[in-house]
Amino acid sequence: MEKTRIGVIGCGNISSIYLQNLTQRFASVTVTAVADLIPERAREKAEKYGVPRVLETDALLHDPEVDLVLNLTTPQGHYAICHQVLSAGKPVYVEKPLSISLEHGLALKTLARHNGLLLGAAPDTFLGAGIQTCLDIIHSGVIGRPIGATAFMTNHGHESWHPDPEFYYQTGGGPMFDMGPYYLTALYALLGPAMRVTGRTAISFKQRTVSSSKKNGQLIDVEVPTHVTGLIDFASGAIGTIITSFDVWAADLPRIEIYGSKGTLSVPDPNTFAGPVRIRLAGEQDFHPVDMDRPHQENSRGLGLVDMARAWREGACDHRASGDLALHVLESMHAFHQASDENRHIYLKTSFTQPAPLERDACY
Ligand SMILES: NC(=O)c1ccc[n+]([C@@H]2O[C@H](COP(=O)([O-])OP(=O)(O)OC[C@H]3O[C@@H](n4cnc5c(N)ncnc54)[C@H](O)[C@@H]3O)[C@@H](O)[C@H]2O)c1
Repeated sequence: MEKTRIGVIGCGNISSIYLQNLTQRFASVTVTAVADLIPERAREKAEKYGVPRVLETDALLHDPEVDLVLNLTTPQGHYAICHQVLSAGKPVYVEKPLSISLEHGLALKTLARHNGLLLGAAPDTFLGAGIQTCLDIIHSGVIGRPIGATAFMTNHGHESWHPDPEFYYQTGGGPMFDMGPYYLTALYALLGPAMRVTGRTAISFKQRTVSSSKKNGQLIDVEVPTHVTGLIDFASGAIGTIITSFDVWAADLPRIEIYGSKGTLSVPDPNTFAGPVRIRLAGEQDFHPVDMDRPHQENSRGLGLVDMARAWREGACDHRASGDLALHVLESMHAFHQASDENRHIYLKTSFTQPAPLERDACY
């Protein structure tokens, strides 16, 4: 099998785990070039992970030895870089979120389709052993028909530890856009698309005081909601509740639970690939752990990309961490906020095909 040749744009924090996995773990791909606005960063990563070439961004996306581009720039750069890659005739896989605005997300989908290219996006944690085991359990019927789900991501923001926390409180930030992609992608992968959503949002604290060392004492004006509550009507009929918040000092809540007609499934942290997975059926006294016999329990970032590379080699379009799924997540995140601003339910315009379970013997 010819390896798919990956070019990576953006060599910051998250690039290390991608480069490690793409150069050492997944045999079906090879990294042929890296680029970054700060060339020193690209050179460092190339040296560390044995990538043969460091290129300018524009050169990389036109390079004949790059089949597929991985966009690991910051969210502000997602749309522009993806647009350039698709315009250059190559498929692109981007870190979350697909883009900041819904319009840009829709435009990328249209461009990819127009040019006959694949568009994929993180997170791919739902392809890990934990959430794939949950999918097996739902498909097996053990918990019966899913009737509801909850997802909770609560903390008190990041100004106590992050050296430059301003962006969390500016447009494009907030808890839903920061962490919602993990929770919503997991819910949608497990339960299928949403039909409509509503939400309530609040800015509970108008200013934040930084207590991390570099900017200790500085004030941040909060521009975006930091307490975001959503209700999701799934097309299947199940009802979901999600809270993402930077305003909660303490909570004793699960990450994700799926409520079925015969019992409850406790889903692991969707920001990881691992377990634990637990279930408690009607009549049982407690939750009990489920054995996980699936691969990819460790940090397998890049799994969605290699699944997309597989589809690209096969001339197929059935890859799982798809642009359609990421677009549905993006539309939902905007819709929770819009529903709150306008006091109404929002019917979603986007949808996606629920990703098939990963084949157990898939050779990536
Ligand atoms: N850091 C994490 O733990 C983490 C986890 C999950 C997802 N992500 C996502 O990964 C993406 C990157 O995050 P990060 O933490 O690595 O950010 P980062 O700021 O550490 O790295 C981004 C890199 O992209 C480069 N860059 C920006 N615009 C560019 C352009 N136009 N051309 C070439 N290079 C450009 C920057 O110079 C920088 O080196 C974000 O979308 C983020 O949401 C990050």
